[in-house]
Amino acid sequence: MHVDLYEKIWMGLAVLMIAAFLGSITYGAFAFASHPPSHVETIDPKLVRTDARFATPGVSTRPDGSVQVVVLAQMFSFQPAEIRVPAHVPVTFRLTSADVIHGFAIVGSNGNTMVVPGYVSQFTTEFARPGDYLIVCNEFCGLGHHVMSGKLIVTEEEAP
Ligand code: CUA
Repeated sequence: MHVDLYEKIWMGLAVLMIAAFLGSITYGAFAFASHPPSHVETIDPKLVRTDARFATPGVSTRPDGSVQVVVLAQMFSFQPAEIRVPAHVPVTFRLTSADVIHGFAIVGSNGNTMVVPGYVSQFTTEFARPGDYLIVCNEFCGLGHHVMSGKLIVTEEEAP
């Protein structure tokens, strides 16, 4: 079988690229412990409304001053639809879905996760800039996907 020199070069480059991509993912996973925000903690999607972790969605302040936001995603809204958090403190978002896969992206920030039924997605971020942020669902979840949005208000004063 004859393999042209250019074919060999391109095959080699493709192998190198795949190795580089896998290498960067592996390096990020182990050196920075980065992993998808979901698939850590499980929850029965049929019982999310009565589960103590999600029975009362909303904002709460922990004893150390950090803020926790519990959000329930469902077709086609977020509960609560309006979230108010203080600037300059760590804010931990905990999310789950009552039905299908949704997305939760805080536009203009690094807050972005999939919301997968059966799992709790969690990420922590801090908002340096007070103001109104749009929250959008960025996973297609059905006919009302395009209207599924929320609002995040980052305030300069202390946590509520
Ligand atoms: Cu929820 Cu798209």
